Amino acid sequence: MKLSTREILLFPVVLVLFLSISTASGIISTNKFLRDSETLVSNDKRFIFGFFSLENSTNRYVGVMFNVQPPTVVWVANRERPLQDSRGRVTISDDGNLVILNSQNRSIWSSNISPAVRNSTAQLLDTGNLILNDSSNGRVLWESFRDPSDCFLQTMKIGVDVSTNTTNLLKSWISPSDPSVGSFSAGIQPETVPQISIWKNGKPHWRSGPWNKQVFIGVPDMTSFYLNGFDLVNDNKGTVYLTYLYANQVELMYFTLNSTGFLQQKYMDPSKNDWEVTWEFPATECDFYGKCGPFGSCDPTSSPICSCLEGFKPTNEEEWRKGNWTRGCNRKSMLESERNSSNLEQGKQDWFLKLQSMKVPDSAIWVPFVDEDCVNGCLRNTSCIAYSYYTGIGCMHWEGNLLDVQKFSMGGVDLFLRLSYSERDQKREYKVIIAIIVPVGSIILAIFGYISCKYVAKRRGWKRMSKIFLSESSPNYYKEDKITEDINQAKLEELLVYNFDILANATENFHLSSKLGQGGFGPVYKGKLPDGQEIAVKRLSQSSGQGLQEFMNEVVVISKLQHRNLVRLFGCCIERGEKMLVYEYMPKRSLDAYLFGSQQQAEEFLDWSKRVIIIEGIGRGLLYLHRDSRLRIIHRDLKASNILLDEYLNPKISDFGMAKIFAGNQDQANTSRVVGTYGYMAPEYAMEGRFSEKSDVYSFGVLLLEIISGRRNTSFHQDDGALSLLAWAWKCWIGNKIVELVDPKITELHLGKEIVRCVQVGLLCVQEYAEDRPNVSTILSMLTSEIDNLPSPKQPAFTTRPSFSKKGTSKSQGSVNNVTVTIMEGR
Ligand SMILES: *[C@@H]1O[C@H](CO)[C@@H](O)[C@H](O)[C@H]1NC(C)=O
Ligand SMILES: *[C@@H]1O[C@H](CO)[C@@H](O)[C@H](O)[C@H]1NC(C)=O
Ligand SMILES: *[C@@H]1O[C@H](CO)[C@@H](O)[C@H](O)[C@H]1NC(C)=O
Ligand SMILES: *[C@@H]1O[C@H](CO)[C@@H](O)[C@H](O)[C@H]1NC(C)=O
Ligand SMILES: *[C@@H]1O[C@H](CO)[C@@H](O)[C@H](O)[C@H]1NC(C)=O
Ligand SMILES: *[C@@H]1O[C@H](CO)[C@@H](O)[C@H](O)[C@H]1NC(C)=O
Ligand SMILES: *[C@@H]1O[C@H](CO)[C@@H](O)[C@H](O)[C@H]1NC(C)=O
Ligand SMILES: *[C@@H]1O[C@H](CO)[C@@H](O)[C@H](O)[C@H]1NC(C)=O
Ligand SMILES: *[C@@H]1O[C@H](CO)[C@@H](O)[C@H](O)[C@H]1NC(C)=O
Repeated sequence: MKLSTREILLFPVVLVLFLSISTASGIISTNKFLRDSETLVSNDKRFIFGFFSLENSTNRYVGVMFNVQPPTVVWVANRERPLQDSRGRVTISDDGNLVILNSQNRSIWSSNISPAVRNSTAQLLDTGNLILNDSSNGRVLWESFRDPSDCFLQTMKIGVDVSTNTTNLLKSWISPSDPSVGSFSAGIQPETVPQISIWKNGKPHWRSGPWNKQVFIGVPDMTSFYLNGFDLVNDNKGTVYLTYLYANQVELMYFTLNSTGFLQQKYMDPSKNDWEVTWEFPATECDFYGKCGPFGSCDPTSSPICSCLEGFKPTNEEEWRKGNWTRGCNRKSMLESERNSSNLEQGKQDWFLKLQSMKVPDSAIWVPFVDEDCVNGCLRNTSCIAYSYYTGIGCMHWEGNLLDVQKFSMGGVDLFLRLSYSERDQKREYKVIIAIIVPVGSIILAIFGYISCKYVAKRRGWKRMSKIFLSESSPNYYKEDKITEDINQAKLEELLVYNFDILANATENFHLSSKLGQGGFGPVYKGKLPDGQEIAVKRLSQSSGQGLQEFMNEVVVISKLQHRNLVRLFGCCIERGEKMLVYEYMPKRSLDAYLFGSQQQAEEFLDWSKRVIIIEGIGRGLLYLHRDSRLRIIHRDLKASNILLDEYLNPKISDFGMAKIFAGNQDQANTSRVVGTYGYMAPEYAMEGRFSEKSDVYSFGVLLLEIISGRRNTSFHQDDGALSLLAWAWKCWIGNKIVELVDPKITELHLGKEIVRCVQVGLLCVQEYAEDRPNVSTILSMLTSEIDNLPSPKQPAFTTRPSFSKKGTSKSQGSVNNVTVTIMEGR
């Protein structure tokens, strides 16, 4: 091609213009090209679309990447047909398709839409979805989310859509250096009880078990925390898909199916600037599909891991002993329903054996029966060999072979297995023997238990429920208490379970003189265990509609959170219809007493340097809750009276996880029940019930301004000439009179710059729109001056409206706060 001098002169200019067009507008349209050196950037700059190579390979691919360093590929267009050089281009062809052209101008990949469209544009959305629009009407013609590679991003739908006759599957790469379709795929099939599966060459490799509208019940440690924002949509007409949207959408987090068949959740750890695997399946040997064959049951904690279900024996003893479990097990005796009718007359009926904490078998059949009808329906139908009834799912029946059964040590569901009458007879004889052994055994156990209990109680005043009390071989003699029976033994082992009497003694029978305060969730008492350890006991009010299992789940999880800026949860007590939480006792009580308090603490005045330590400590505790703990807890009631101080005046956040415990699984981004304190609640949360990390940030901002000013947000009245602390702070800020905002007792005004910085951060946190507020890690960087040029805050929320204060009597541990009220009410 010949270029005139003028064209040559023009060329660099055109190129530069071109670059800026294709990146700035973020659109590819007809006659515009995206070259190898160029990228398309999403509006919020989180994703880019462009060319890349993989390790150990010179091939060029085109795809969507997380805009991090190095870019992380989440979608590949030409995964099967790489470009051989860097002269490839992306454009819109004459028929409206998005195409990749090689150096010979030949199309090596196309979005393949038909019929042709005259004018279309491609655009990378903030979700990482690359879409092709009909420019004449904005209709979406094609999107990369409809043809996923190995990554599952927020708002993507994985599953089956009958309206478009499409199945969306994740398809693994062959290897990290070759994105061609590998052996593994993952997705959701239209079954009557949908679940996630991973397939290897089309054969099942792993499955999650059924969705109970909150979690997948075959994944015991998949608590609602992990699934915050997940939804499995099932219209029961064939369309079923899984999707998710985190409350904090800007978080860099995604799911991927790696080339060796592991489904992983990855999270960008900003402190390490690297992806961290936060969740992964298959996790144990037993998670591999059908490990123990038909009618086998897998338990990763036992050895060997495989055993036959009760009433079954190995198909081939020899192979089974050698650890080849593929052939599974057979029934020991034929079901009565399979025999000829003559036997039935004698009233010898099949019966159901209850297996607890199970991962239910694959291929469940959902039947519209409720309660009793579930078992009766199964009994009547000769092909039904097992059933399970689970809230959120309903009645499930199974026929044929029972495959991929697991015994969990926690979680799982009850599975009822159909066995023949003769098995029951054997069971009876067995029971007679047990009946003799058990009383004798229990006496011995009781003595032993008493001794060990004494010993333990002496040491710490708590008892750790041990296998001795609730072991599998003795299911029947620990039945004194309905509640105890319900609780999964494994959970108890993980948690310190306090005896009611010990707590009653420690708090002098919950005497008024031991009462530290009254929080929104119930009164708090100070207690002293027999060994002298001081504790704070929160006696939860009865209003929580949560089931015991859920309660235990949440408590176990929350008790595992440990951070120096969080109050430690020691354990709980669930006896006599009560639920109590036991915390470490904080002698210095809560921050509000220091900030707004009375004379008695005058000598413990918080100077500026102490306040800075407190502010940063709260920030770190909050950061841990929001991300480092992996559980992503949104506090929802951060306020001065919930900040307790240890003897060195280090702050510790208390009551974290309470919102979670109380609201149960309502931890989606919307809640119908607003938990919080007026004055600290972000506008979108107070008014619309929408909460996110940013609503905690708002509360943190209010707290920050309170710490600086030494005044309660709610202490302002009309006569102050300002409606609230926020309005006052804003007034001082725009009037450049920050000195007036600062607590007059603070004398270190030579630190003016640092104080101004704190005020500015506080104001950034209380901005009206959640998306304007910084996240906690940014806040910490701002406070420690890692970020130099802070943005200018916008006018805070609630500065033009009447103040949201309400008089009440809310106290939490150690608080003498009588101004704010923790509200829990329907909207
Ligand atoms: C690239 O090649 C090197 C050397 O053969 C090897 O150690 C490395 O694992 C390879 N990387 C990938 C991603 O395959
Ligand atoms: C490919 O097409 C472009 C114009 O779109 C042209 O400038 C170039 O010469 C063509 N290359 C080949 C190898 O045909
Ligand atoms: C295609 O759409 C763009 C705007 O989206 C417009 O500027 C252009 O004229 C259209 N071209 C044709 C051929 O319709
Ligand atoms: C494409 O369609 C989507 C959805 O209708 C719309 O949000 C977007 O603005 C459109 N883009 C263009 C370039 O028309
Ligand atoms: C759906 O697509 C499959 C192939 O992907 C095809 O065999 C089937 O006929 C289609 N069904 C309908 C209703 O279009
Ligand atoms: C996939 O994940 C598993 C489990 O973390 C890991 O062992 C394996 O190396 C990963 N595969 C690749 C190819 O990175
Ligand atoms: C296990 O048994 C099956 C069937 O009996 C046989 O095909 C398979 O090769 C055996 N596997 C091993 C590892 O011995
Ligand atoms: C049951 O009876 C049928 C005929 O009525 C016979 O074919 C079958 O073999 C019998 N089965 C058994 C287990 O006796
Ligand atoms: C029960 O019987 C019906 C037919 O009456 C059948 O469709 C169903 O699959 C059977 N099995 C179970 C487990 O309900």
